[in-house]
Amino acid sequence: MSLPQVQNAYACLTLGKAGIQSKPLPVLDATGILVKIKAVALNPTDWKHLDRMLEPSQSMGSDFAGDVVAVGESAVGKGVKVGDAVAGYVRGGYAFGDKDNGAFQEYIRIYPELVWHKPASISYEQAAALSLAAATAQQGLYINLHVPSPWSGKTGGPAILIWSGATSVGDAAVQLAALSGLKVIVTSSPSNFSYLKSLGATEVFDYSDPDVVEKVKEASGGGVGWALDTYCEKGCTLLSAKCFAPEGGKITTLLPINPEDYPDWPANVTLERTLIYTALDPKNAAECAGLEEWYTHLPQLVEQGKVRPQPLKKFEGGLSGLTEALDYVRTGKVRREKVVLSWE
Ligand SMILES: NC(=O)c1ccc[n+]([C@@H]2O[C@H](COP(=O)([O-])OP(=O)(O)OC[C@H]3O[C@@H](n4cnc5c(N)ncnc54)[C@H](OP(=O)(O)O)[C@@H]3O)[C@@H](O)[C@H]2O)c1
Repeated sequence: MSLPQVQNAYACLTLGKAGIQSKPLPVLDATGILVKIKAVALNPTDWKHLDRMLEPSQSMGSDFAGDVVAVGESAVGKGVKVGDAVAGYVRGGYAFGDKDNGAFQEYIRIYPELVWHKPASISYEQAAALSLAAATAQQGLYINLHVPSPWSGKTGGPAILIWSGATSVGDAAVQLAALSGLKVIVTSSPSNFSYLKSLGATEVFDYSDPDVVEKVKEASGGGVGWALDTYCEKGCTLLSAKCFAPEGGKITTLLPINPEDYPDWPANVTLERTLIYTALDPKNAAECAGLEEWYTHLPQLVEQGKVRPQPLKKFEGGLSGLTEALDYVRTGKVRREKVVLSWE
């Protein structure tokens, strides 16, 4: 297959604004692969990067799924060949030191260890939707909290709290914590209770309920031992910390939270932030190994119906539909859904 010299990319025009531009194809190095993107999913990080740090012409976009169109010389034999349908995520505009590399464009350069094989049973859009969010959930659970993974041969542990199970990270975390055999206590809006129970939540409580802490403690038999806060705003991390059993435990957050900002933070609850981009940098050995392992198990978990993507909210227009889609995410309209777009 002959590849074009240039491609269309939805990239930064100026801080806070993006549009379609012509860009060179990312240069394929010996260890890389080139993927022709067919679908993308959106994450809050996309608009946060655009509004806060990208420079004009810098690429953007994290989640993608598509077909492998070229494999570098030293990447041959690493489990990915031309024609394979794969998915993954990058840090758009900063991906592997290349400001012209990102998900919101026709072609992306990545590495064989950083993609997973899309099973035929799901669409490219669903595969894109399952990449960054589910990777974050596994990193928070298995690397930060040391919850036993379903393939470790171990199951069980203390009850876990997933604060805000209807976020895209929360959705995956509920499924994974249930697969690990844990009692999974979840918070969400009442409209999501039955959906979250269908994913494996043991009990779900309204995060706005003034008695939510007491209810979580009672449902978990005296308090949880682990928590993953997937919302991290409006003081909910402190509420999560108050849901622990008397012996305490550990909470993982997705945004930076400092317990010292809270005078009534429980002394026996430790906090660690997870950041999924760390798994793309080889100097973070544990996160990289965790992601690689996750990607080897994810296709089978999906095929077996043990992990399923969030319901999709599809936007039309391909790359040109991204402005509207990005605004939908930026203005907080996302509700238990993953925003996706596709193109040929
Ligand atoms: N550290 C990392 O590596 C990493 C990775 C991914 C995401 N993040 C960050 O994590 C956060 C979540 O991202 P996401 O993509 O998973 O979220 P999302 O899917 O966009 O979250 C949407 C959900 O947020 C929930 N929500 C809205 N207001 C809430 C409130 N006051 N309290 C609790 N939940 C509320 C809603 O739940 P209901 O429908 O139940 O109301 C809604 O369904 C973002 O800040 C994102 O930037 C960080």
